[in-house]
Amino acid sequence: MGQLGMDLNRFILEEERRYSYATGSLSLALTAIESATKIIASHVRMAGLANILGKAGKVNVQGEEVQKLDEMSNNMMIRHLADSGQFYALASEELDDAIFPEKGRDGKYIIAFDPLDGSSNIDVNVNIGTIFSIHKKVSGTVEDFFQEGYKQVAAGYIVYGSSTMMVYSTGNGVNGFTLDPAVGLFLLSHPNMRLPERGKTYSINESNYPGWEDGLRRYIDSLKQKGYTARYIGSMVADVHRTLIKGGVFAYPADSKNKSGKLRLLYEASPMAFLIEHAGGKATTGKEDILKVKPESLHQRVPLFLGSSADIEDLMGCL
Ligand code: AHG
Ligand code: MN
Ligand code: MN
Repeated sequence: MGQLGMDLNRFILEEERRYSYATGSLSLALTAIESATKIIASHVRMAGLANILGKAGKVNVQGEEVQKLDEMSNNMMIRHLADSGQFYALASEELDDAIFPEKGRDGKYIIAFDPLDGSSNIDVNVNIGTIFSIHKKVSGTVEDFFQEGYKQVAAGYIVYGSSTMMVYSTGNGVNGFTLDPAVGLFLLSHPNMRLPERGKTYSINESNYPGWEDGLRRYIDSLKQKGYTARYIGSMVADVHRTLIKGGVFAYPADSKNKSGKLRLLYEASPMAFLIEHAGGKATTGKEDILKVKPESLHQRVPLFLGSSADIEDLMGCL
């Protein structure tokens, strides 16, 4: 669809125009995410300076109190999403319970998000991100967050890397936009993203190898024999972003200590699975498609394997 270089806002509106019944609500919802994450991106750029600029009374140049970056990101997401009036309910990694914003009483959507993913990488200037997952409001209770991933109406992430990118899908292809910092616009740079059928890399925290089940150990051993290379950043957004572009496998499996792995279903595994599957890849718990898992709680964890379809099929053959 979109022309290279097209501004994200125009892209969102043109996508909406294809549906005669669209009310513009999803467009406004996506725009709220865009605004919040542009501000987060600008704070991320100054992360190393936050303490220096904020030293005098802990107030920065904008006159705001200096906060830890994940706290700031969480507040920024909540403020913009709640203020948009499009969201009936919000769930965040950083909040124990869902919140139901006053202005969202007529909102048609609910959103789960990880405001800052990969926070252990902040201090070392390595890529971090934001992840979001949008479903329709159905009952108007917290139960609405327990809808399967295949029912997502939109999912995406923003990666704060050497450039800032937003990648999202409304179920109609996956598109990537790069922030042009000079003009403050996300411009279409990666239209219709598709994973290669097979990749050459595997991405997993191999220090957990002793606790993995035998089948997984055999699979990873076999990749080494086949000449695959290892790449692990330790920020899911960045590791999945590479996998989306170059293919291969990204995994955070269960191990003997963590029976459900580490990653959270609602705002990590499910939105990433939605993107990967809409880009031609596969995402599984090892037993079932991630998008078919029925959530039972806001912060539940799930084992995750995602990537190129041929690679995930090989893996499934070993488990
Ligand atoms: P978060 O920073 O939102 O808590 O998420 C961290 C996650 C994810 O980004 C990454 O894939 C994983 O933690 C890395 O875990 P290990 O350090 O155990 O490899
Ligand atoms: Mn995370
Ligand atoms: Mn996080």
